[in-house]
This record gives sequence, C-alpha cells and structure tokens, in this order.
Amino acid sequence: MKELNKINFNFEIARPWFALSFFWFIIIIFLGIVMRFSFAFNVVLPTPIEFTRHAHSHTAFWGWAGPGFFGFILAILIDETKRSRVYENILFWGIQLVSFCALLSFILSGYSKLSIVFSTLMVFFWLGFSFYLLKFGKKIKHSSSLLVYIVRLAVLMLVVSTFPTFFIPISVLTGFGGEVVKSIAIHFFLDSYSEGWLYVMSFVLLLFLKKEEPNLELTKFSKILLLLSFPILILVSLRSSVFLFPKSISVLIFTASLLWGILQIIVVSRLIHKELNYTFLFVSILILFKAILDIIVGLPFFTLFVQSKMFVLLYLHVKLLGIMSVSILIFVVNAYFSNDNRILYSKRIFLSGVAITLMAMLVIAMASILPSFVGSSLGLELSWLWQSGQILAFCAALPVIISVLILFVFLIPQIREF
Ligand code: HEM
Repeated sequence: MKELNKINFNFEIARPWFALSFFWFIIIIFLGIVMRFSFAFNVVLPTPIEFTRHAHSHTAFWGWAGPGFFGFILAILIDETKRSRVYENILFWGIQLVSFCALLSFILSGYSKLSIVFSTLMVFFWLGFSFYLLKFGKKIKHSSSLLVYIVRLAVLMLVVSTFPTFFIPISVLTGFGGEVVKSIAIHFFLDSYSEGWLYVMSFVLLLFLKKEEPNLELTKFSKILLLLSFPILILVSLRSSVFLFPKSISVLIFTASLLWGILQIIVVSRLIHKELNYTFLFVSILILFKAILDIIVGLPFFTLFVQSKMFVLLYLHVKLLGIMSVSILIFVVNAYFSNDNRILYSKRIFLSGVAITLMAMLVIAMASILPSFVGSSLGLELSWLWQSGQILAFCAALPVIISVLILFVFLIPQIREF
C-alpha cells in the first residue's frame, strides 16, 4: 500500500510517531499479560493490581493510540511548506516523556497526585497538537474529502474531551464539586476520548484498509451523518454516568446510544459491499458486534450486561484492541513493510491472538453474569468456566505479543533511518 492514491501521505512525518507508538504497544500488552497471569494463576503482584491496570489503560491512550493517530494525521494534513519542525519535535518528545513519567507514576502510586499532574500535562500536548493542526493544516485541498471530515470530527472530540480534565485535578486536590460531579467529569473524559477521538479515528484507517480509493467524496448523506454524530457522541460520552442523571436526560442518552449503534451499522454496511480483505472483514465484524451492544445498552433486559464489569471490559477491548489497535497496526504494517511471507504470518498470528483474547473475555463475561440468570446454585459450578476463560485469555495474549515483537524487529531499520 505504498501508493495512497490521491491523499498525499507523508511517510517521513509519520514514521517516528508510529515507531515509538509500537514500542508503547509492546509495553501495554506486556502489562496486560502480567495482569492476565495474575488472574489465571492467582499470583499476587508486587504493587496493587489497580496500579498496573491504570498504567496499562493510560499508556494505551497516552503512548500508543493517541500518538499513533497524531502521526497519521500529520502525515496527511500538514502542509510541508508551512511545517514547523521545532513545534513538532516539542510535541513528539513532550508526549513521549510524559507517557514515560505517567507510566512510572501509575505503576508505583496508582491514581495519585503525581500521576494526575502528568495526565494534565498530557492534555496540554493534545491541545497543542490541535492548535498546530488548525494553524498549519491543509485547509482547502482536501475540503471535499470524507476522510478529512471524519478526522476533523475526531479532533473536535479530542478537544472536547479535554474540558473536564481541567476540572478533575482541581476536584481531586481540593474536593471542589463533590463526588457526583467528579465522577461525571472522569467518565465524560474517558468516553469522549475513547469513543469520540480514538474510535472515530479507527474509521479513517478502515477507509485505507479497504484497499480502495480512500479519498471518498463527501456526499450530502455522509455530511448529515457526520453532523448528527457530534451531538450523539457528546450524549454517548455521558453514558457511563447515566444513572446519576434525571430520567428525562437518561432517556436522551440511551436514545443517542441507540442512534450511534445504527449509525455505525450504516457506515460499515456502506463500506462492506465491495472488495474485502480479511483484516477489513475482521474489523467490520467487531464493529457490528460493538454497534449491537451500543443499541441494546438501554434496553431494560440487558441492564445486567451493562452493569457487569467483565462486559464493560469486553466492550472496551473489542473497541480498543480489536477495532482500533488492529486498524493502526495493520495500517502501519501495510504502509511500511513489503508483503513477504514473514510479515503475512505475523499479521495472521496477531489477528488470531486478538480474536482468541476477545473470545476468552466473552467466556469470562458470560461466566460472571450467568449465575444471575440461572440462580446462584450454579454459580459455584461456573467458577471452572471463569478460570478456564482467564487461562485462555492469558495464553491468547502470548501470540499477540510475540507477533508484535517480530513486527517491531522488522521496524527497527525504519527507526534507524529516522
Ligand atoms: C493482548 C492485549 C491486551 C491484554 C492481554 C489486556 C489485558 C487487560 C486486563 C487483564 C485488564 C484488567 C482487567 C480486570 O481488571 O479485570 C485490562 C483493562 C483495560 N485495558 Fe487491556 N489488554 C490488552 C490490550 C489493550 C489495549 C490495546 C487497550 C487500549 C488501546 C486496552 C485498554 C484497556 C482499558 C481501557 C482497560 C480498563 C482499565 C480500567 O478499568 O481502569 N487494553 N486489560
């Protein structure tokens, strides 16, 4: 996929961003495996498991996915003639340094004042990135491209997601606003960031994975869908704290979630009808699965699923590992590597590992809620299902990290060139 058709993809700009994102991806999978090992074999870790969980999820956001997308956006939208290398270097190294400090502080002290300081610093870099894009981005050239409009929606959601983050440290340090408002702020940040920014950006990569013309024209229909997406995404970002709102707003949030699910199905079904490759099919199936979960989230019968921690974790990994990480990784591999057999096998091992990891998480999620359906007497018998799911999830994560390590070794010559 060296030729990216009409969109002029600047490989040089994106390379360092992708290379270091890969490095962070290895770290987060490693942390995920450490947690899986601890759950599967009941091993107590040297620091509390929540510390590792926070380090894992925040590094996934700060170091892996965010900067990966920054590299991608700079590569298609920055005007080479206006580019400021100094500004880009400050953004790049600043993000890497803060990711490193945040990782250490989360592992050693969990959600502490120190980790909150680093997280807040990171927010300034995101705003700095958005400002850079606004000032130096190509404005007219791609204005009719669907792809550029999706990027704009995602960056807008990135900016919106930063608003509550200024409130969170003030609230944590001074107690201002009380627990309810703090909880809404934290959930709004996490959901608008992961759904509005990261997940929406995955759709841009999906256009490339289709191996067709990614520079699709913006039709009237897609413009309406995009305009609708913004308010819907704002409401969907309030979904995790829905129980804290009055009933009328809850109904609005659930309706937005339903519409969001339908929108995703429309987009995928419009993309899916032509030539397909297995990665595209893999990601599309997961998007459909996620969209169905978005639709049923508000139905009373399914409240049990939504309130189950294991289902929430399954949902998060379908979105962030199965859809988003697969899209970035396969995009980078297709763009930078020749399609020889070693690369092909590594990609297949990676996808199989991700698929089995998600299936194991489904088993764990089912084992966690089935007793509520069939009575607690069966709950004890289901503990073997729970434990088998944990062991399967641990084993499935091993091929994921091995294949990513192999790909990383192939990437090293690319890093040297930088
Ligand atoms: C094979 C790769 C991965 C493995 C083995 C893994 C494993 C885990 C485990 C064991 C947990 C904690 C579960 C619990 O507490 O019961 C977790 C949580 C989480 N993971 Fe992953 N994970 C992987 C990839 C990813 C990726 C790629 C992302 C995002 C880009 C991600 C984002 C998250 C998030 C957001 C949480 C929830 C954290 C929280 O509730 O505080 N994971 N993961």
